[in-house]
Amino acid sequence: MELRKLHPTFGAEVQGVDIGRPIDNETFSRIRNAFEEHGLLLFRDQELDDEKQIAFSERFGPLEKTFSQNPAGGTLFARQSNLDIKSGEPIPLNDPRMIYQRANMLWHSDSSFKVVPSLCSLLSARVVPPEGGNTDFADMRAAYDALPQATKERLEGLVAEHSIAHSRALVCPELLTEQQKTVEAPPVRQLMVRTNPVTGRKALFVGAHCARVVGWPEEEGYAFVRHLMETAIRPEFCYSHEWRVGDLIVWDNRSLLHKATPYDGARYKRLMQRTTVAGDAPTVMQ
Ligand code: OGA
Ligand code: MN
Repeated sequence: MELRKLHPTFGAEVQGVDIGRPIDNETFSRIRNAFEEHGLLLFRDQELDDEKQIAFSERFGPLEKTFSQNPAGGTLFARQSNLDIKSGEPIPLNDPRMIYQRANMLWHSDSSFKVVPSLCSLLSARVVPPEGGNTDFADMRAAYDALPQATKERLEGLVAEHSIAHSRALVCPELLTEQQKTVEAPPVRQLMVRTNPVTGRKALFVGAHCARVVGWPEEEGYAFVRHLMETAIRPEFCYSHEWRVGDLIVWDNRSLLHKATPYDGARYKRLMQRTTVAGDAPTVMQ
């Protein structure tokens, strides 16, 4: 197994491992250590089906069930695709399933709207458009390190409220049902700075689900969140991945933000399958 760095601050391509086959413990522990250190690992030329993807993903921990509104809601997969799950035909772009996916184009951390936010996501490219549809990643460890000392002190112990109702309202306020907003996924609290338990590195934890700062006036909190996002996400902390069929990327949701980028869904097909590994505890008392 060999590593090739993808970006100066994060991300590495792992070569010489077939993740569709059973992996011995020693190899997996090297993969896991590389994940903790680099935050993002790319495996190319993999022949994955859903079953193999689940088996590899489960090496990182138990998987989450997907939020009900995703086209694959309630299963172990989040489906990022413009293809109808049954017919395989393109979905009209104004269909609620496509509007729901538009929120992926906002910088976010998967499942930060859950009490226990996810550890990592694994996204595999099954069908990719010939142009567009990159996924962009931003290193929130480098972003944290670059913050002014006064901001770091201000952030210490600060808690934010995250909700999927907030991120979806940014693309379409009527998208979620009352049941989804208040029963399935009510707002949760998250620390604004997370510390990796293995490396000790701190990362800024914000993103599109992050709506306000607990204990602050609503407007002031949201302005602070937006300011953090604007100053933290700089080109030098970002890596844009151009997908090839057979790629799988596993990324650390504790230390990176990511977003989808546009592609011509009326002309091209795209099918990406995501598995999401649950975290082990809330970041803060609810
Ligand atoms: C995801 C996601 C981005 C993309 O799967 O969590 O945000 O480019 N995907 O499909
Ligand atoms: Mn995502």
